[in-house]
Amino acid sequence: MRASPDREPGAMARPGAGRARYLLLLAQENLEFRLPEIKSLVSLCGGRLSSQQELRLNSPFWILSLPSEDIARRLMQRTVCAKSIFELWGHGKSTDELYSSLKNYPIENMAPYLQSDLTYKIKVHAFNKTLTQEEKIQRIDSLEFLPFEGKVNLKKPDNIFWLLEDYGMDPNNIPEHPIDLYFGRWIANGQRDLIESYSVKKRHFIGNTSMDACLAFIMANHGRVKPNDVVFDPFVGTGGLLIASAHFGAYVFGTDIDYSTVHGLGKASRKNQKWRGPDENIRANLRQYGLEKHYLDAFVSDASRPIWRKGTQFDAIITDPPYGIREATRRTGSQKEMAKMTEKGTENHISITSNYHLSDILFDLLKFAAEYLVIGGRLVYWLPIYKPEYTEEIIPRHPCLKLISNCEQTLSSHTSRYLITMEKVKEFEDEDHDVHILESQYLPYKSHNSFRDKYFSGVTKRIAKEEKDSQK
Ligand SMILES: C[S@@+](CC[C@H](N)C(=O)[O-])C[C@H]1O[C@@H](n2cnc3c(N)ncnc32)[C@H](O)[C@@H]1O
Repeated sequence: MRASPDREPGAMARPGAGRARYLLLLAQENLEFRLPEIKSLVSLCGGRLSSQQELRLNSPFWILSLPSEDIARRLMQRTVCAKSIFELWGHGKSTDELYSSLKNYPIENMAPYLQSDLTYKIKVHAFNKTLTQEEKIQRIDSLEFLPFEGKVNLKKPDNIFWLLEDYGMDPNNIPEHPIDLYFGRWIANGQRDLIESYSVKKRHFIGNTSMDACLAFIMANHGRVKPNDVVFDPFVGTGGLLIASAHFGAYVFGTDIDYSTVHGLGKASRKNQKWRGPDENIRANLRQYGLEKHYLDAFVSDASRPIWRKGTQFDAIITDPPYGIREATRRTGSQKEMAKMTEKGTENHISITSNYHLSDILFDLLKFAAEYLVIGGRLVYWLPIYKPEYTEEIIPRHPCLKLISNCEQTLSSHTSRYLITMEKVKEFEDEDHDVHILESQYLPYKSHNSFRDKYFSGVTKRIAKEEKDSQK
């Protein structure tokens, strides 16, 4: 049994200054999102990531060099991509290499954790192979050369040490011997439990496009959300993204054009339920997780017409704009304005909605972020793309915003969405208002508008192919 994360075995200061080597054990999902998450979190904790070796980005094992154990612990209090972190005592490509690396590890670094008054336990973990209990015990016995002075305690040890073996990534070609072996002192676990405890399946108020809990936490981490920040979602829907930021201590606010969603009215999204219940709304979602005091409010408002006073500042904007697949993309306007667009004259000023093109949504979102984020604040949002057309050039830019990362999540054989993270690096000035007119490289990529058509053309083709295949 592993010690619970709130116990801190071996929390005493480790002798020896400078950067120590840590082993990160990562979950094998959302692979592209992991490095930006870890980098964002390390920088949020005041550190800078420098890897000890070329990271094998798809591997579950990364050796990192971090400034302190405190930063390693704080990283684990936030990450949903990593499972555990260890102070690395030894590493090798074979058992002999591991043992000689362990023998070279400074004894003064080990000694504080091996004393006679401290109990310990060794765990064996293999990736891409199942070891028998006998094999595990045999491996533990082989480590008897380590100068442990304390007693073994399997239930509540003061320190836990892990032997980790990597058998590569190919389940159809598992080598006889591990390709990498690691030994280290367990420091802390990550926040993978949040994925289950915040699961949308058990959430009070959901919609067709409620954000998956793990991705919502990843977005808040890419956005470097921290306690007491003010975080805004201009396309708030059921508030899935507010929940993750509030969990990390931010005060959260949202807007949505849809009156029913903001007020928790209308048809339910759950199977076997026709209408939303009396307390199905964003506030109740936050209450469900004990986060109500972090909820500022949600308004009915059109993101194409920001309601904010000049000078308002958000620490982060984290959002999932509509791209017209499972929800409508629309904006408000008077009949007069709409008529102007279609060149049909009318004197009527009744507010109606028209289609809100994706390239306009993106352009407005970047301009809004450039104007209303604090310097250093981050914009995190999803960009849908048609795979054959994707290059980094199609990511919308703004001179006040620096692109930090772009991570792909595949939606279908021909479509993906990219999680885009940008950071405000320059104050918004008057000339940034019409930047798209002045500087052609910042022109929104018009092809974003046809995403919906391409999505459905692919779906139609796929259905036709499936039907054809089933007739064979
Ligand atoms: C993908 S959903 C957001 C889902 C949300 N992240 C959640 O967890 O429920 C996009 C939302 O944008 C809203 N929307 C569409 N056009 C809008 C506009 N012009 N201004 C503000 N919200 C808009 C839709 O009503 C929808 O709720």
